[in-house]
Amino acid sequence: MTDDDTTGDDTSEAAVDDLIARIGRLEDDARARLDAATSLDELRAVETEVAGRRSPLTALRKRLGGLDADSRRTVGKVLNAATEAVAVALAARRAVLEAAERAEQQLAERLDLTEVPPGRPAGHLHLVTQAIEELEDVFVGMGYTVAEGPEVETDWHNFGALNFPPDHPARDMYDTLYVDYGAPGSTLLRTHTSPVQVRVMTGAPPPHYAVMPGRTFRSDTADATHMPVFHQIEGLVIDHDITFADLAGTIDAFTKSYFGGDFTSRLRPSYFPFTEPSAEFDIQRPDGSWLELGGCGMVHPNVLANCGLDPDEWQGFAFGFGIDRLAGARHGVADLRDLFTNDIRFLTQF
Ligand code: FA5
Repeated sequence: MTDDDTTGDDTSEAAVDDLIARIGRLEDDARARLDAATSLDELRAVETEVAGRRSPLTALRKRLGGLDADSRRTVGKVLNAATEAVAVALAARRAVLEAAERAEQQLAERLDLTEVPPGRPAGHLHLVTQAIEELEDVFVGMGYTVAEGPEVETDWHNFGALNFPPDHPARDMYDTLYVDYGAPGSTLLRTHTSPVQVRVMTGAPPPHYAVMPGRTFRSDTADATHMPVFHQIEGLVIDHDITFADLAGTIDAFTKSYFGGDFTSRLRPSYFPFTEPSAEFDIQRPDGSWLELGGCGMVHPNVLANCGLDPDEWQGFAFGFGIDRLAGARHGVADLRDLFTNDIRFLTQF
């Protein structure tokens, strides 16, 4: 008699023993084959063969009907136990193979950001990020703290508190991007880092010695010297008896510390609503050429008052300049757009 022989109703004791023995062999064989499967696909194929509708064990179940009641009970129990054992072996093997496949998948998808592929240069911080970190270092070395403010600002912080009256033409100096939030015109992408001055002055009592780097936004069309998203660093000093000479001395100390001892600085009269007097400041390179960096001035008394400070008691100065142009000038980048297109041929030069 073969394992898939389903004919005959032989219920003799020998035949029942033979059936039970055969069930044992089928179970052993099924478990061995399940254990030998090396992938989930293979396991599924073996499962169909050893436990599916056409499997020998299922075929044997059909023979139970031909047995007398006692034999059917005896053989049925053994068959159920064998079927159960095969199911347990199948589940155990499936768990092992699933875990192995998961581990393999995780290994394949692993992303090690510290790993440098052979033949490729290691990545580095963006030139603007490098400049921000170096600028922070210079000012921290001069005793300043670093402060930050939100990029989405209120009109009051960006303009009102900084002494830009509503509808004043000075607002036209800044091509503002407004945000559709709150009353129309009340919320905007900050056009400069000067609103962080307001946040510093209203956030804690003076004295203040702080620099505030960050991203700024204007509806400028991108060209060689303008980006709609760019970066500035703001400086603010508020203390007793601060004079314009302190401002000029600070700018010059910064210039020498950041660019080198062979650089000098100069101030040119200018206008900003939030400083009085106001100036543009330029640096002179060793070859004698000048580079305009940003604006500065003594904090306007109206700004001090708007921030809750008594202008008779506190004075100070502020400055702010563009970091992208600074980083570009330092590395000989003629077009600011090159800083942001992230062309690998450009990036690997630094
Ligand atoms: C201001 O933004 C003032 N808040 C600076 C200031 C601070 C004055 C504190 C007084 C006291 P201005 O608009 O000139 O000023 O911008 C300052 C610098 O930002 C510019 O010199 C330039 O370097 C940079 N800048 C301005 N617009 C852009 C732009 N679209 N792309 C790149 N850099 C820009």
